[in-house]
Amino acid sequence: MKFPKFSATKSPVPVRRFAFGRDFVWGASTSAYQIEGATAQDGRGRSIWEDYFAKRPHLDNGEVACDHYNRMVEDVAMMKKMGLKAYRFSVSWPRVIPDGKGAVNQAGLDFYSRLVDELLANGIEPYLTLYHWDLPAAMEAIGGWQSREVAQHFADYARVVVDRLGDRVKKWCTFNELEVIVAGYIGDGLAPGLSDYKLRVKVGHNLLVAHGLALKALREWDSQHDAGLDLGIVLNLVPAEPATKSATTAARRHWQRFYSWYMDGLFKGRYPDVVLQEAAKTGVVITAEDMELINQPIDYLGVNWYLRQVVNRRGRVIRVPAAQETLMGWEMHAPALTRMLVMMQAEYGALGATSMPPIYITENGAALEDKVSPDGVHDVGRMTYTYDHISALEMAYLAGVDIRGYFAWSLMDNLEWSLGYTKTFGIVHVDRQTLERTVKDTGLWYAATIRKNVR
Ligand code: FCB
Repeated sequence: MKFPKFSATKSPVPVRRFAFGRDFVWGASTSAYQIEGATAQDGRGRSIWEDYFAKRPHLDNGEVACDHYNRMVEDVAMMKKMGLKAYRFSVSWPRVIPDGKGAVNQAGLDFYSRLVDELLANGIEPYLTLYHWDLPAAMEAIGGWQSREVAQHFADYARVVVDRLGDRVKKWCTFNELEVIVAGYIGDGLAPGLSDYKLRVKVGHNLLVAHGLALKALREWDSQHDAGLDLGIVLNLVPAEPATKSATTAARRHWQRFYSWYMDGLFKGRYPDVVLQEAAKTGVVITAEDMELINQPIDYLGVNWYLRQVVNRRGRVIRVPAAQETLMGWEMHAPALTRMLVMMQAEYGALGATSMPPIYITENGAALEDKVSPDGVHDVGRMTYTYDHISALEMAYLAGVDIRGYFAWSLMDNLEWSLGYTKTFGIVHVDRQTLERTVKDTGLWYAATIRKNVR
């Protein structure tokens, strides 16, 4: 691991105190399939990603990734050196239950238990996600997220993991990004890659039901063990802003259709009309019991934020002339993060017991150029992006939104799914040949910022 020198006074971006609360959580995120590698080690089962890449052999895959599975101790030491207060990772369902149901692979569970111990021993709080897109292949074979049976197996899996780790992990998340899991069913850019648009509401609704079932199982465990768990879910939210005044209705409709309907389900217990119409058209049955399950209170909401979209009068997403974009083609426009959070607070903040809970930004980051040189990895674009977004978050906090933490995506360069290793989001560089880790300028700036802010 390389940790180059960094001078806060010469930093191109300020190292300053932010106005957040005392206990604000400074962290970084990863996910199992993107960093672990070791896909055939210690009894891990097959996931839908092995099937996805088997059909697309020209693409990079996660067989090696960052080899985090075998370098975990070194990686935690690096987090400690950076001063991270929290680390958000995901548990691989096929590593823990190779067929998705039935026999538990103790060796897989042991890995996460060792990871949690290592984090705690280094003063880093674990934030655990149960599902970050690596469904066991055996679950896809029985319908994947189109199936209610899989939702039930997911709740059983949650129970297995909490049984083992609930004594040490307080922060639990059921799912990462429902809308992107759905994307794997309606498109082909992510596993399982079914390209069937009719599945949109069906899969999204089943995922919320699975969230509700798992939440129930976790709550039950929590009350039996008096553990004081914090339970939540992570959504990726992309605000749709109108290109012109006359596009206001179209922009709102876009936001509801693709993003806010999950929050309507979680916090209001009812989907917006535009989604109910699509459900009716595609034959999705939504019962009152389902909505009750979905509308259970949660303790925090994780928000993954990368970009905004601008929508015209006809409901199309348009490119903003002169917009600055990342290598993903995502517009960099931090003020929209403030606006979105303030708007969410107004819409979901006063709904009684099921109101929107405190928020963590569970992912934020950018794929931009890295200049690898002997004295370090220079990425001033990412540093600026990160600074601008934390500042935008601070604005929302000052406007009264209850924001408790920020997690950089990602701790380290990793497999960006079907885009392979070419799009790097890490605040730590990973050499693709040697897998050596070098903290990038952004990581050094982030470490200095954490030092300045943690009192
Ligand atoms: C998010 C995913 C994460 C990563 C980033 C760039 O949608 O949660 O795994 O791919 O995008």
